[in-house]
Amino acid sequence: MNEPHLVALRCPKCGKRLSLANSFSATREIETGEIVCEKGHMWPIIDSIPSLVYPSITNDDAKWIAEYDEMADNYDDLVKQYDEWLGIDMMKERENISQFIPIEGPVRIIDVSIGTGSNFIALYNQFRNEIGRFNLHGMDLSTKMLRVSKTKFFETKLSVNLTHGSVYNLPYQTSFFDIVIHSGGINTFSDIQKSLNEMLRITKSGGLIIVIDEGLSPKKRMSEEGKAIMKANTLFSATPPLQNIPDQARDVEVTYVMNETFYQVVFRK
Ligand SMILES: C[S@@+](CC[C@H](N)C(=O)[O-])C[C@H]1O[C@@H](n2cnc3c(N)ncnc32)[C@H](O)[C@@H]1O
Ligand SMILES: [Zn+2]
Repeated sequence: MNEPHLVALRCPKCGKRLSLANSFSATREIETGEIVCEKGHMWPIIDSIPSLVYPSITNDDAKWIAEYDEMADNYDDLVKQYDEWLGIDMMKERENISQFIPIEGPVRIIDVSIGTGSNFIALYNQFRNEIGRFNLHGMDLSTKMLRVSKTKFFETKLSVNLTHGSVYNLPYQTSFFDIVIHSGGINTFSDIQKSLNEMLRITKSGGLIIVIDEGLSPKKRMSEEGKAIMKANTLFSATPPLQNIPDQARDVEVTYVMNETFYQVVFRK
């Protein structure tokens, strides 16, 4: 991590600004060390990734994270199996995020629960000639997933500020991002309301929040094919979490993507 990364972050315990502990000003990459908030709360930097998890996670969430840690190295291959089964090309579908990107000017984007980083690789595929205007951040609670995305971004030469944190208390400044993306994950979060409140909090006024997860469209769930999909994997019977969209949200829109097997909820702050 480097000092510009810190501008986006805040202490997850008290919300104050952070700086590098014991440090000469650093424009270079810091691999290990500590960051400290204005009140003195200390947070480690491990393998260049600041770790800002607070409070500790519930047993339910910990179980999921153990599973994600376990599957991190094979995650992309596992997800690839969706392609044939659901009749989709997920990497191509991820490129549809480009419709939400302003056509010019600087843009701050975070992928919350970034996993292995595929959304930003898709973004790079679309915008590689103008990637300099993007300030990209990614956060996840699984250190193994973060490690996979870090390697991928390094190989692609794509600069992404990665942070270890939890979706229930995002360690980011309020009203910082133009676009907040979250794909996969929310269906199994133990506190969906809190996660959406936090995504909204870190979004700038007028910014967009895009939430995508497994969940068949009403039409698809009536079809024989849809019934078979839900039987094989119950995650696909999930519905968009409309009851948890924060009151402050505007222009809420639900569509179905990936051959109508995933819901996409987009709203504005
Ligand atoms: C199904 S994967 C999706 C990964 C990626 N967004 C994608 O589209 O491929 C869900 C991700 O959510 C992360 N996750 C689960 N619980 C979390 C939490 N409480 N805070 C942050 N990330 C979490 C997991 O570690 C995992 O990387
Ligand atoms: Zn603090």
